Amino acid sequence: MELKQTIEKRTSIRNFTEESVPVNDLKELVRRAGLAPSVNNYQPWKFIAVTNKDVLSKMAIKVSEKIKELPENKSIASKNVKSQVEWFATFFENAPAVIAMVMEDYESVLEKGVQLSHEEINKLRNFPDMQSAGAAIQNMLLSAVDMGYGACWLSAPMMAKESLEKILAVENPYHLIAFVAVGKPSRQLEPKSKKPIDEIFKLIE
Ligand SMILES: Cc1cc2nc3c(=O)[nH]c(=O)nc-3n(C[C@H](O)[C@H](O)[C@H](O)COP(=O)(O)O)c2cc1C
Repeated sequence: MELKQTIEKRTSIRNFTEESVPVNDLKELVRRAGLAPSVNNYQPWKFIAVTNKDVLSKMAIKVSEKIKELPENKSIASKNVKSQVEWFATFFENAPAVIAMVMEDYESVLEKGVQLSHEEINKLRNFPDMQSAGAAIQNMLLSAVDMGYGACWLSAPMMAKESLEKILAVENPYHLIAFVAVGKPSRQLEPKSKKPIDEIFKLIE
């Protein structure tokens, strides 16, 4: 599919058919994610694809438990908000595949020459690790569309990061960053409306 068309067609897909995603397609999604730019070309990522229903269900249970534990404020919407968030954080359990992105801390060139901690440099550079992660995930989302799938980026499950890392056997120096749920869309959705160009563009001549 032409890139422009792929970009324009992409929208978050959260409902999937039962059709499984072949391993080679999962690998291809990850390969394309890995082609993204990253800080100093460090490529700090690895990807764990999960198609096992029991594992996905265990993960979703941990996320639900975590959300239920969150202290509610006094608003009358509180319970509704939590159950809404719970759905957006756990729908992945019904996806044919979920790809977890894990990353290790990158060591910037600056770290070798200045007396600042990794965290301080990362903050100074405005979190290039997370910016790199975003580029890779977007590559994956666009590739999913290009390959006839639908996908959705998820950060909400990260609320249960520690438990999920245990389930997925993520070990130091790697830590969980985000998930992408992928599968065949159960129905075609129209892309969401986005801000018009004049609202988001400014030119300094
Ligand atoms: C960093 C990030 C985290 C997101 N986390 C979630 C999530 O946890 N659950 C979810 O259902 N959607 C999640 N989304 C998808 C957004 O809700 C979605 O991109 C947004 O509503 C715009 O819709 P569109 O993707 O169809 O254009 C996330 C998107 C981004 C970029």
